[in-house]
Amino acid sequence: MTQYAHIVGWGKYVPERVLTNDDLSQMVNTSDEWIHSRTGIRERRIASEQETTATMSVAAAQEALRVADVDPANLDLIIVGTITPEYLFPSTACLVQDALGARRAAAFDLSAGCSGFVYALGMASHALTSGAYQLALVIGAETLSRIVDWTDRRTCVLFGDGAGAVVLQANKHPGGILSSVLGADGSGGELLMLPGGGSRLPPTLDSVTNGMHYLHMDGRRVYRFASKIMVRATRQALEKAGLSPQDLSLLIPHQANQRIIDSAARGLKLEDSQVFVNLDRYGNTSSASVPLALCEAVESRRVERDDTLVLVGFGAGLTWAAVTVRWSVPLPVAAPPRWRVAVRWARYRWSAVRRRALNFLWWLLERLLFLRPEDKD
Ligand code: ACO
Repeated sequence: MTQYAHIVGWGKYVPERVLTNDDLSQMVNTSDEWIHSRTGIRERRIASEQETTATMSVAAAQEALRVADVDPANLDLIIVGTITPEYLFPSTACLVQDALGARRAAAFDLSAGCSGFVYALGMASHALTSGAYQLALVIGAETLSRIVDWTDRRTCVLFGDGAGAVVLQANKHPGGILSSVLGADGSGGELLMLPGGGSRLPPTLDSVTNGMHYLHMDGRRVYRFASKIMVRATRQALEKAGLSPQDLSLLIPHQANQRIIDSAARGLKLEDSQVFVNLDRYGNTSSASVPLALCEAVESRRVERDDTLVLVGFGAGLTWAAVTVRWSVPLPVAAPPRWRVAVRWARYRWSAVRRRALNFLWWLLERLLFLRPEDKD
């Protein structure tokens, strides 16, 4: 039986702390006028010390599961698109899986720069339409403030932190994810990279002193690539779904730069009302930008049932991805019954207790069973 992958839940999380362009002008030689006229950004959110890619992912995921009214124990798959994972390993997706109590779910991170979320959405939809899985959680989350050089005005003004998530569910009703286009051109890898911390340049005193653990970018060349690829990827995704730009209700592009978005809109001959923009308030949140924008588009009722959306991203790699969606959920969504919200909350609490209890048990067993003779002295 043919299965379709539908977005049935969505959620977002942004840190409370706001960093405005004026704040930045106290830190580096820049101004609100320069940043706004070149990028469209007015402010961005910055994670507190307690907030990380995993904590923000979990918060966005819990909201998406609440909207979908789905029990995390029924999830088959969790993918986190991110370039700022909690650790090199284990994956952030595994931390999310544990925190949600999604015991049945396979979990992995996907690194495709700012295209990460759209890439992950494309892959997850294939996993569902193939019949292999029924329920997937797809997250885009970043703590870019931790890899930005706050003394480099060319990059630090651009980025922000946040997370967005969607729940994908397989069912037999036509609609949902209609098509996806994923692409890469590794020859442009050096245009946007984090040189340090991997096997090529492990962390040393020198690598840290030389700023190799900060994001490095050739802004002008990325700009030229982005302006072309947004139009091409959107057209290809629409064509694959048997549609054209005229059929588009709303374009939800990666929120990197207003000028790149405007140029894509011109290339596709779209009106302003057909393009969703929220980068003025969040800046470029990389993998989080498209799901954050999708959530806000839905919240502000820019999306209606049966609308045709294209989510499109580009980023480090270089990579690009576009997904066509026929929105199938009537809005607004009714709140789930309180008892089911309470059951989910209890599951999250239990997951945290279980983790601590298991760690304690291992600690105790090690001491009781494997105590080495020298430790007895
Ligand atoms: N404040 C004031 N002046 C600045 C600042 C700043 N924050 N940053 C740069 N300048 C100066 C430069 O030093 C330069 O001065 P100069 O001419 O005296 O050397 C001048 O402004 C112009 O600099 P450009 O780099 O040419 O500025 P441009 O118009 O290209 O805008 C920008 C730069 C905003 C970075 C643009 O190139 C861009 O948006 N590129 C795309 C970046 C992007 O999308 N990256 C994300 C990819 S997604 C991912 O995977 C993470």
